[in-house]
Formats: sequence, structure tokens, C-alpha cells
Amino acid sequence: MAEKNQSGATTSSAKRGVHGAWTSRWTFVMAATGSAVGLGNIWKFPYIVGENGGGAFVLVYLLCILLVGIPIMVAEVMLGRRGRQSPINTMRYLTEEAGLHGAWNAIGWLGVTAGLMILSYYAVIAGWALHYVGQMASGAFQGASAEQAGVIFGNLLADKNTLIYWQTIFLLLTMAVVIGGVTKGLGVAVRILMPMLFVLLMVLLVFGYQHGDFERGFSFLFSFNYQALTWEGVLEALGHAFFTLSLGMGAIMAYGAYMPEHARIGRTVLAVGFLDTLVALIAGLAIFPIVFANPTIEPGAGPGLMFVSLPVAFGNMTGGLLFGSFFFVLVTLAAWSSAISLIEPAVAYLVESKGFNRITANLSLGLVAWVVGLGSVLSFNEWADTRVAGFTFFEFMDFLTSSVMLPLTGLFIAIFVGWVMKPDTVREELGDESNRVFFSWRWVLRFVSPLLVLVVFVLGLYKTFW
Ligand code: PHE
Repeated sequence: MAEKNQSGATTSSAKRGVHGAWTSRWTFVMAATGSAVGLGNIWKFPYIVGENGGGAFVLVYLLCILLVGIPIMVAEVMLGRRGRQSPINTMRYLTEEAGLHGAWNAIGWLGVTAGLMILSYYAVIAGWALHYVGQMASGAFQGASAEQAGVIFGNLLADKNTLIYWQTIFLLLTMAVVIGGVTKGLGVAVRILMPMLFVLLMVLLVFGYQHGDFERGFSFLFSFNYQALTWEGVLEALGHAFFTLSLGMGAIMAYGAYMPEHARIGRTVLAVGFLDTLVALIAGLAIFPIVFANPTIEPGAGPGLMFVSLPVAFGNMTGGLLFGSFFFVLVTLAAWSSAISLIEPAVAYLVESKGFNRITANLSLGLVAWVVGLGSVLSFNEWADTRVAGFTFFEFMDFLTSSVMLPLTGLFIAIFVGWVMKPDTVREELGDESNRVFFSWRWVLRFVSPLLVLVVFVLGLYKTFW
């Protein structure tokens, strides 16, 4: 598999075409943005900002995106494009190419495992959004107060059959697309859907501005109240930077493997990072004014924040039934274009190395995600009081993946690319970047990103458990 190319120049071209390739750099941008923009931006970002007291957390998150996320994203895309296979085989190929110890393959394995674990609970939350499409359309939230919206959401969480039903539908949707291949369909879909999502977020932003307490929402997001910040919070911000950019689990590496040879990685990654951050900030600016205008909604309400505050907004605006259900359709679609990238790396691996075809690979992996996801479903009702190290099952999966596995894999990637891979190999793959850009990036990746991840990781874990 890792045969050396006779010319010695680009070792990878021989393997292209196993899974297909993006038709252009732009399709890669849209696919990577489709992966990055998801529940993390619209659902998770606002609620963890709320739980961590606002502005200071946002600042730490932005720093993490800039100093850790973007540099590591460049590294991941670069690895993928050089390896041109699933993350597991890409890492195997690159370690062999450089004559390194096989332990580096852990990067691929950790990532693929984290992807499936995330998918397990991601499908449950995306299921809530699917359910809300019908709820909005049927007028359940028409004129609803914040209390009433809270009760409707509480009833959903208590009803495990409904949760399992929508979780299953969402997983089937995800598998259906990945069976069809990533190249066709997905690229077209994200190009239409992402702009639509953007327009709807703007509509909500305007609504929040007109009907909510915009000033308080704004200052909650952007004023620096450092007292609210804890080391646990800093770790959560770092973990979220990985989560929201789809880093540290092979999704971006797998997508990089399908990237055209001559696309410039640096500016491409900047575009993806910028769009992703923008969507998260707009989502926050749309949600918090509504939260503060309704004293019964707590900013620290947790995972239900979006599912309570937005229906209240929609239920009380002209055309809200239509906009509301449309909005949840788009949340579902954003989640869907992310979920695809959660399962693709593992699918690619089973197809490359284990003799599966796309159908059997998807069915097996989908089943695994479904079974593990049942734990998250139950953690919202029957197991709500069962704790692992102080977490419910859902919280534990989220913590283990976002705050532990993604940062760890990211750290290994930074060390691998910054310190272990031959500089010439790295330079060759990033050949289109100017010297200044290349050397600044490499410096940050060698010294700043790993150090930050390490310090935050160790202190964050320490404070979380002791
Ligand atoms: N980035 C996605 C989001 O913000 C989640 C995700 C994580 C997708 C990791 C792929 C890989 O919702």
C-alpha cells in the first residue's frame, strides 16, 4: 500500500481516485465548511458560552481558533492530501514514508474512534432538530411563552421512543449519503444549503435585534468578565475550537485527501475557519438577546438553550411558523453535512483495508453509532441520575471526545508535522505558500499550538477532577 513512487516527487498520485476527489478548490471549501458548520456552531456554542459566563470564554475560544485551530487545520489538510487515503492509512503511509515508529498511527485510530463516538450523540441532538421541524410547522409554539416552550422541550427529552425514532432517521439519512459517495451530491448540496442557512441566521439576528434585549446579549458575548472564567472553561473552549472546526478526528484529513493537487491550502483553510467562526458568533448574537428578553430562560440552561429560546422567538413573530420550521430544517441539514464527515473516515478505512463496500461499511458503522447513541438518549430520561465521574452518559461522551480525544489527537498532529516530519516534505506539500507565510505557520505549529494545548489540557483536566 505504501509503495514508493519511482519519480520520488509526489508519492501520492498513484492512489488518487479510490474514493473520488472534489471537483475544485471551491467544492473543498464548501465541503469542509459543511463539515465545520453544524450543531457545534448553532446549538453548542451558544449554550457553552452561557454556561461559562459569556465574554471571557468567547475571547479564549477565538484565541484557540487562531493559535491552535487554524494552524492544526492546515497541518491536517496537508497530511490528508499527501497521504490521499483514510486517516488510518494516511498516517500509516506517512510514518512509513518517513521511517518512523508505528505508534504515530495512533493519530489515525484515535481520530476515527472519536468520530464514531461523536456521531453517536450528534445523531441524537440532530434528531431533536428534526422533531422540531414538525413541531414548529404544526404551531405547537404559536404564541408560546418561555415557560411553555420549556415544558414542550422537557416532554420531548422524557420521551425516549420519540428520541430514538428521530435519532434513527438522522443516522439513516447520513448513511444514505455516504453510501452514495462524498464527491457527488454532497458538494452540490452544501453549495446551496450553506448560503440559505446564512440568510436565515441573518433573519433571526434582525429579529433578536428588534424584539430581544440586543444590548445585553451583545455585552454578554463580548465584554471581558474574567471572573467567570475557570480552567475547566478554558479547556472547554479549546475542545470546542477543535470540535467546531472538525479537527483532531480525521474528518478534515479525509477531506484533504480528496483535495485537488494545486489548491493552496493556507487561504482555503482561512476561509473555512472564518466562515465557521462567523456562523457561531451570529448564532450567539441571535440567541442571547432573546434569552435576556425572557427572564425565565437562563443563559446557563445547557443543551436545551436553542430549543427553548428560538421557538419562543419564532412562535411570536409574523410568519414564524414557516420560518421556524425552515430554520430547523436548515439546522438539520447543517448537522447532516457534518455527520457525513464524522462517518466518512471510518468508511474509507473499511473500504480500503477490510474488504467492505460502501454499503456494508456504512451499515456496520451506523449500527455501532446507533447502539452507543442509545446511551445518550437514555441519559436524558431513564439514566438522568446515573453519573460517570460526575457526568451523565451524554456529557461524558461529549467531554471525552471534545475535551480529551480531539485536543490529544490535535497535539500529536502538531508534534508530528512540526517536529517529526521532514521539513522538506512539509514544504513540498505547501509549496504554493510564500516563505513568510510558511515559516510563520510552522513556528506557531511547533511552539505555540502544542504548548497551549498541553498547558490547557493538563490544567483543565486537573481542575475538572480534583
Ligand atoms: N464541526 C461540527 C460542528 O460544529 C462537528 C464535527 C466535529 C464534525 C468533528 C466533524 C468532525 O457541528
